[in-house]
Amino acid sequence: MACYLDNNATTALDPEVLEAMLPYMGQVSGNPSSVHRYGRLQKDAIEQARESVARLLGAFSEQLVFTSGGTESNNLLLTGFCRQAAMSGAEVQTRIAVSAIEHLSLLEPAQHLPVAVDEIAVDASGCIQLSAVEQVMTRQTSLVSVMTANNETGVIQNLAPLVDYVTEANGFFHTDASQAAGKIPLDFNASGVHAMTVSAHKMYGPVGVGALVINKRLPLQKIQYGGSQENNFRAGTENVPAIVGFGKAAEIALSELEAVARLTRQLRDALERGLKQLSAVTIFAEQAERLPNTVQFGVAGFSGETLLMQLDRKAIAVSSGSACTSGKTDISHVLKAMKIPHALADSAIRVSFGKNNTMSEVAAFLEALQDIIEVNQNSSVMMAAGL
Ligand SMILES: Cc1ncc(COP(=O)(O)O)c(C=O)c1O
Repeated sequence: MACYLDNNATTALDPEVLEAMLPYMGQVSGNPSSVHRYGRLQKDAIEQARESVARLLGAFSEQLVFTSGGTESNNLLLTGFCRQAAMSGAEVQTRIAVSAIEHLSLLEPAQHLPVAVDEIAVDASGCIQLSAVEQVMTRQTSLVSVMTANNETGVIQNLAPLVDYVTEANGFFHTDASQAAGKIPLDFNASGVHAMTVSAHKMYGPVGVGALVINKRLPLQKIQYGGSQENNFRAGTENVPAIVGFGKAAEIALSELEAVARLTRQLRDALERGLKQLSAVTIFAEQAERLPNTVQFGVAGFSGETLLMQLDRKAIAVSSGSACTSGKTDISHVLKAMKIPHALADSAIRVSFGKNNTMSEVAAFLEALQDIIEVNQNSSVMMAAGL
C-alpha cells in the first residue's frame, strides 16, 4: 500500500480547487490590470479569492498581499521592513529578533539584512517562553518574528503574551502561519500580530501562491519594483489561476477545519500509541500543544535519512526533519535548538497526516517501521556474533 504521510511538505491539490482553477488556465484570459471586460473578470476573481483567504485568517481582504508563497512572504516582510526603516533613517538603531526554530525561508533572509538580528531561544519542548523574548528584546528591537506552528515538531506557540509584550515595547510582531493555516483556527485581527505569512500548498491549494497579511500600522516597503499590483506591495502580473485556487482552498479549509483536525488527530494519536510500543522510539515535543496532524520522533540506532529511504522502498513517504532541508545532511536546526542529543536528532522522522489519510495507512506505517527496526536488530545481533 502506497502511503503519503508528508502533508507538511505539501498537500495534494483538492480536486475542487483544480476545478475552480481550470477556467482561468484557458477559457478566461486577460490581464487583471487591464480596464476592459477581460481584465475586469480576472480582477474580480482575484478579489473574490482575497475575501475567501481573508475570511479563513480572520483578516480584512485589504490586508492581504498575494505572493508566490510562504518563502516570498517571509522575504517581503523582513527585507521590506528593513528597507522602510532605512528610508525613514532608523536603520542603524533597528534590531530584529527571530526565533531559533523558524523555517529557513525566514532564517536565511534574516542573515542578509542590513540590521542586527537576535535569536530567540526555545525550551526543551520546542516552546518559546516570554522570558526568552524578554532576554533578547532591547530598546532598538523593532520587529519580532515567531512562527504560529512549527513545520517539524508541530508545536503551536502561545503567541498572545509575546505579542502583548512586544507591542507594549512599541515593536511589531510577525508570525509565519504557513503550517497553521487550515489546520487550526486563526484570527489575524484579534491576535494583534502585525503581519502573518501563509502558503496555499500546505492546505490543498496550488504550489506557488501564498500571502502576507499586513496590518497597516506595519512599516513596509515593497522589494520588487514595477507595476502597482497588490496595493503597491508586490509588482508583477498576478498569477490568477493560482490565486483563484488559493481562494477555493481557503473556502474548503474553513468549512472542513474541525472535521480535518478531528480526523488527523485520530490518525496521529493512533500512530503515537503504536510508536510507544516500540522501545527504540522517542516522540519529540510530546508534552507541548501541537498541530493535530504532526508527530516527529527519533528511532535509536538509525539515521533519519536511512529510515526515510527504507520506508520509501516500502512506498511510504515521510520526511526526516523539514522537507526543505532534506537535501542536506545537517541535523534539524529545530531539534538542535531544543537541545535534543545529536544522535537522536539525527534519527528524526516526521509524519504529517492530511485529510486523505486513513487508519489502514497508520497500520501499514507501523508495520513497516517495526519490520525495519527488527531487520536492523537482527543484523546487529548477527554482526556481534561474527556471523
Ligand atoms: C513554516 C513554513 N514557512 C514557510 C514555508 C515556505 O513556503 P513555500 O513553500 O510556499 O515557499 C514552509 C514550507 O515548508 C513552512 O513550513
